[in-house]
Amino acid sequence: QELQMNLEEIEKGGYDHFMLKEIYEQPQAIRDTFRGRMLPDQGIIKMAGIDDHIDKFVNAKRILIVACGTSWHAGLVAEYIFEELARVPVEVEYASEFRYRNPVIDKDDVLIAISQSGETADTMAAIKLAKENGAFVFGVCNVVGSSIAREAHAGAYTHAGPEIGVASTKAFTTQITVLTLIALKLAKKKGKLSTSEFHKYLVELESIPNKVKKALESNDLIEQIAHVYKDAKNCLYLGRGFNFPVALEGALKLKEISYIHAEGYPAAEMKHGPIALIDSEMPVVVIATKKGHYEKVVSNIQEIKSREGKIIGIVTEGDLDVRELADHVIEVPDTLECLTPLLTTIPLQLLSYHIAIALDRNVDQPRNLAKSVTVE
Ligand code: G6P
Repeated sequence: QELQMNLEEIEKGGYDHFMLKEIYEQPQAIRDTFRGRMLPDQGIIKMAGIDDHIDKFVNAKRILIVACGTSWHAGLVAEYIFEELARVPVEVEYASEFRYRNPVIDKDDVLIAISQSGETADTMAAIKLAKENGAFVFGVCNVVGSSIAREAHAGAYTHAGPEIGVASTKAFTTQITVLTLIALKLAKKKGKLSTSEFHKYLVELESIPNKVKKALESNDLIEQIAHVYKDAKNCLYLGRGFNFPVALEGALKLKEISYIHAEGYPAAEMKHGPIALIDSEMPVVVIATKKGHYEKVVSNIQEIKSREGKIIGIVTEGDLDVRELADHVIEVPDTLECLTPLLTTIPLQLLSYHIAIALDRNVDQPRNLAKSVTVE
């Protein structure tokens, strides 16, 4: 038993929990995911799984994305990125809904299945259904040789390394990285991005690992904030555009490991319901980076403040406006709008981690949850 414990300590590499280790591994995991694929100097992205089937992607009338849990959130981010860059319609579905609702699938559809484990039963069933209907299926998995990776016609692995913590962290950011590479590749092929714009994205993506590192430097501040809100009964997460799915993911992380009820919402939808919940007991995490509807999000923050909600703003470095209104601000480096999710996700992961620790929860193995869900 002692040997077993020592082994686990070694595996945790000096961190208290796998989840924290995996959060900190993200700069490397993201770099490993684009390394060898993205060559900014030559202005190219090489991905065999795409290159070999590029016509399928170029001719696709739409892209369907199916996934569950955190991978579904990565799919939602991808929807925004694909539509913005490659100008192709995208639909994102929970695999469990897709498989049972007699979906319209065309042989010109490309279905992208996203799965960390590559073993999720509902996602697997969605793939089989799409294949039966003649669609081309592309897998984005982390576990090499997993069932979904084998069942798909082609695919691209995330190179996150083993993810042990049940709450997914580095799988999420590496999924977004792979999906961004695919969107960029497709955008270039379809002539939707000029050579210089394409190059700008590659250069910026290359700088993301260092910016994630910078975002991780807020860890101590986030721990302090976590202590202020650990006894909250509810928590609201708001974001818009590319950061709306990040709000969903932030809320999911908090629910999963702290058992605090949390909801993610598109910021502008707040007025259609959640605003009724806001009082002095309600922490509201607002993603308010400079890029993308900033002024509108700032006015949402004002609405929360006038109802005495507690505001934790996730802002771009150097932001002054939100700082004036919010109870706390956590800065992330500036980047291109569609890459902001790779940075804004980081403080939300750390916030849920520290709240869960403050509540003495089992962060690596939260109650009732499994890392890989192989039954429906
Ligand atoms: C479980 C895990 C989640 C994960 C989801 C989908 O619920 O606890 O962390 O996001 O399954 O898993 P997959 O392996 O398909 O990404």
